[in-house]
Amino acid sequence: MEKIVSLCKRRGFIFQSSEIYGGLNGFWDYGPLGVELKKNLKDFWWRRNVRERDDMEGMDGSIIMNRAIWKASGHEDTFSDPMVDCRVCNSRNRADQLPEKDGKKYCPQCGSRDLTEARDFNLMFKSHAGPLESEDNLVYLRPETAQAIFVNFRNVLDTSRQKLPFGIAQIGKAFRNEINPRNYIFRSREFEQMEIEYFCRPEDGMQLTDYWLEQRLKFYEDIGIPRSKIHINDIPDGERAFYSKKTYDLEYEFPFGVSELEGIAYRTDYDLGKHIEHSGKPLDYFDEATKERFVPHVVEPSAGVDRTTLALLCEAFDEETVTDEKGNSETRTVLRFHPRMAPIKCGIFPLLKNKPALVEKAKEIATDLRPIMNVFYDEAGAIGRRYRRQDEAGTPFCVTIDFDTIGENGPEKKDTVTLRHRDSMTQERIAISDLKNYLLEKIS
Ligand code: GAP
Repeated sequence: MEKIVSLCKRRGFIFQSSEIYGGLNGFWDYGPLGVELKKNLKDFWWRRNVRERDDMEGMDGSIIMNRAIWKASGHEDTFSDPMVDCRVCNSRNRADQLPEKDGKKYCPQCGSRDLTEARDFNLMFKSHAGPLESEDNLVYLRPETAQAIFVNFRNVLDTSRQKLPFGIAQIGKAFRNEINPRNYIFRSREFEQMEIEYFCRPEDGMQLTDYWLEQRLKFYEDIGIPRSKIHINDIPDGERAFYSKKTYDLEYEFPFGVSELEGIAYRTDYDLGKHIEHSGKPLDYFDEATKERFVPHVVEPSAGVDRTTLALLCEAFDEETVTDEKGNSETRTVLRFHPRMAPIKCGIFPLLKNKPALVEKAKEIATDLRPIMNVFYDEAGAIGRRYRRQDEAGTPFCVTIDFDTIGENGPEKKDTVTLRHRDSMTQERIAISDLKNYLLEKIS
């Protein structure tokens, strides 16, 4: 993890939030490469789960919603973690994450065993909507995006004219005042979720949970996270939320241990039922074919953007020893992202920066590719160094514009460039006219 964290800072993937003021625990900023990586992940999730399907609608709800929603969903009363205080150093820790020795828990900060009893700490951040800091104006930053979907179920159903089964998908920020944020961006206080609520007839819930499990495993494979690295935890009876008939946790082999990436939960009609009860509004469904009226059940695949971004970084990170033509060995740090996820798709290099014809051609190629992919134009330093810089950024392809390209060595290779592959470091010659389609096929 240390190597990954340091590369992420050095190359501009992730920075500590508020760094120049000493940082803020549990908050992170994404830099130029990180924001592209995260955007590629979210765009591909949206494409797979919304654009490529007839049975899915997207939405984007507000972060702050009526407090009544959190009362109805149970978050106001029960969205809490057990917390203990250390009486010696005053640190606060999650009771269920305390280290233990000889059957006794102790403070992870100072080692003392003088701890208070556990008490519930609600994880929702509070604020006030409007100028008065009164109880009437109390609002919460949402701790999950899902509730915005449930409370818009009727709106989406009426405007989209979908029929069961169908889903609503949303990507957005969520906030949890975690007692102990940890493991870099794995557990933070501000993060993003990609959530689907897939509404169905009650008798289809179990089978659709397995269907979504398969869909989600395929998704991870398609972004470069192999099934062999994902552990499926089928949560046993008694350990699931009381309303859930089936829950799978998908866990990834992070360097700090196997930990949750996503939950896929069959939540029955619990959420819509609660909002019907609290709002008094009809969130049920009328089946034209069978003339039945009922409250739909729901299957919820809920993934974390930041955790998946971290998994992408961990999966991509590699160090290998390479030897040059002169026999010198060095360590090559490379991020082997799937081209779909790579923040920069193609590096574009004129062989020499002081040859206007090379520079002009290279800039022309960059300008042509820019509207459809993120490219990086670089004319500084030796070509080998430029390749290494792109290896560290995870750029799958680099093209070099040389004297062959501009026809100085004869007509055969005119208008061709060298295409260099990140993973194998092999090079091939490709016509400029074929370049765009070649790259598009690899990254789409
Ligand atoms: N609506 C269901 C729900 O929110 P969850 O298991 O609490 O379920 C879903 O959260 C996903 O959100 C998790 O699998 C994880 O990827 C992400 N997530 C939850 N808490 C997080 C945190 N503190 N930091 C980063 N990601 C988090």
